[in-house]
Amino acid sequence: MGVTALGSTKSTTFVTSDPSRFRSPKFAELGLLIRRFVGAMLPISHASMRIRVGVCAREERRFSGARQSWTGGRVSTEPVEYHEQGDIAFITLNRPEKLNALNPRVFELLDDFITRFADDDSLKVAVLHGNGTSFAAGADIEHYVDIDAVQYLDFMRSGNGVQLKYSQCPKPVIAAVHGYALGGGLELALACDFIVAAPDAQMGLPEVRLGLLPGGGGTQRLPRLIGTTRTAEILMTAKRFSGDQAVEWGMALGLGDHEDALAAATALAERIALQAVLPIRMAKVLLRSGADASLDAAMDLEQSMGAMIFTTADAREGIRAFVEKRRPEFKGN
Ligand code: COA
Repeated sequence: MGVTALGSTKSTTFVTSDPSRFRSPKFAELGLLIRRFVGAMLPISHASMRIRVGVCAREERRFSGARQSWTGGRVSTEPVEYHEQGDIAFITLNRPEKLNALNPRVFELLDDFITRFADDDSLKVAVLHGNGTSFAAGADIEHYVDIDAVQYLDFMRSGNGVQLKYSQCPKPVIAAVHGYALGGGLELALACDFIVAAPDAQMGLPEVRLGLLPGGGGTQRLPRLIGTTRTAEILMTAKRFSGDQAVEWGMALGLGDHEDALAAATALAERIALQAVLPIRMAKVLLRSGADASLDAAMDLEQSMGAMIFTTADAREGIRAFVEKRRPEFKGN
């Protein structure tokens, strides 16, 4: 069967066996998805060219604010904290006295820290969680008191921009949810790849009680996970649902044997970090982009990406290690 080049990055060529596919609408859609893939791929080829220096397995690096320099210690009055442990980044909402309500400074730091995580090739997974009794009780309502509709829209837009960075981050991000995850707090968690929820977590979209509408994807991301009918009830009655309920509906993972959501999310992150980097990144794009594409286009993309991943050094190593009955040593290329 003839093979036609479909597109290429520096190191990779995507192929199809049927040139007539170039002309179909499905193919245009596929082209769009592939561009997203290429975006996810680029940091990897970059990574494989770099030599990693000074990152020992359990090294911890802590930062208390994106613009502050390395502190080496955990002293912070910033409303979001960041630290690294081995190849996992922890982003911590840190306004416990306000149940981690989200204000413009919180959005700014969330944005800075996800960028820091995404840009650092030595980091593989991020865990987002909240200090104190809750994940986040939504947008800071006090911030709404003196702003007009234009400022409100700007605030919504900056929140949405942050969420997009989390959902489109090339590496997996896990939200560890305990206590309240309401309004914008729930929406932020929904932008992550996983929610790990404590059984008694309280989630919901209570905006209608304030005379408002969810503005960060609540009306869009939640129904895609739990269906329109359940979402309509939650949205229109401001009814809360528990972590247990979220697990039952398939929108969250439970704690397993772990004592809290952070421990369970960390264990999940550690398991993901053991796997080959490239297939994880590709799986994230397939899961996110494929859900909005036609099944046909998404299946084509899955096959093309599967063939491309098959050519990587890590795939060779994984297969060889299985046959030789040993643990694989993945190098991220
Ligand atoms: N914005 C700003 N402040 C908030 C907040 C929010 N979304 N959620 C909680 N807080 C603050 C409270 O004002 C309180 O501050 P104070 O001690 O200075 O008065 C503090 O966090 C603790 O909250 P409190 O209401 O006393 O705790 P509770 O256990 O009685 O109730 C909630 C918890 C989450 C049920 C309640 O705080 C609540 O309904 N919050 C708003 C949730 C919401 O509507 N989110 C969507 C916003 S669009």
